[in-house]
Amino acid sequence: MDLKRYISLIKAGEVAAFPTETVYGLGADAWNPDAIAKVFEIKGRPSDNPLIVHISEESQIEAFARDIPAAAHQLIEAFWPGPLTLVLHKKPEVLDAVTAGLDTVALRMPDHEKALALISQSGPLVAPSANKSGSPSPTKAKHVHTDFGDDFPVIDGEATRIGLESTVIDLTQSVPAILRPGSISRKQIEDVLETFVEESFFHQPEKPRSPGQKYSHYKPKAEVRWLEENESTDDVRTLYLVQSSSVISSNVIQYNGELDRMAKELYDRFREADLENFSTVAIQPFDDSDPIFGALKNRISKAIG
Ligand code: TXA
Ligand code: MG
Repeated sequence: MDLKRYISLIKAGEVAAFPTETVYGLGADAWNPDAIAKVFEIKGRPSDNPLIVHISEESQIEAFARDIPAAAHQLIEAFWPGPLTLVLHKKPEVLDAVTAGLDTVALRMPDHEKALALISQSGPLVAPSANKSGSPSPTKAKHVHTDFGDDFPVIDGEATRIGLESTVIDLTQSVPAILRPGSISRKQIEDVLETFVEESFFHQPEKPRSPGQKYSHYKPKAEVRWLEENESTDDVRTLYLVQSSSVISSNVIQYNGELDRMAKELYDRFREADLENFSTVAIQPFDDSDPIFGALKNRISKAIG
């Protein structure tokens, strides 16, 4: 199918998946309540978990957000298009289905040619990760087909470049707070804003600031755990993700400190572990050597959790 077909689908109130630089998104018209209802239904997503609005031009934030602080403009200048989602005060006309009734709205401009081409013609799209709730986010078109069937409309864009979902930052309080870590790190954000930025994803309070945090995500059927310090890597029913090992085997994947590559492949490895009936995924702990460290550790912890 060419892009025009997908644009017509979305304009007709249907749902279609598309690639971004982070993970594939399940797109629907951000102003169409029936289309958004389909997104929740297809994903099996709890209705109290709000969606990110994806835009293709900076000026589109005005239609969704009010009282936009200077910090938002600084972050947009530095990181958009890119894997950073801004939580801002919402305009009253933003649909409740988008924000799950919150008085804030999340916005991002993806850094992907096909995503931007789609959105520039369809208009702003809500787009959660295009997976069934509870399974790993899709980083390849085939993952979307695994979850939603071979006939499901997906704009094919190869494997996504980053592989983990965007950093979510709340700019509606006096101190900016990262609600979900991503490849853009707290330090990179602090350097741009020249101010302290809080991280509020460690705790799981009753009422988290980002509703998504209370759900367990990113879980393959195989048990995910950290590799013990002196543990060998010779169990054939375990998929090992390690930094280095002297064992050369198809179930021992070596990353040699390339955390970007590990992040890019993580969800695909989780899915592969299930397809190949591994009982366990054992991941060797790694050092904080790269901006993606925090996000990678967060997603692995959630899969273990
Ligand atoms: O990289 C990404 O962000 C991907 C791609 C497709 O763009 N999208 C994505 O969407 O990860 P989703 O729906 O899987 O995750 C959105 C997260 C959830 O944790 C949700 O709770 C949070 O963003 N969120 C959305 N709106 C919010 C708001 N108004 N306040 C706080 N958190 C919000
Ligand atoms: Mg998701």
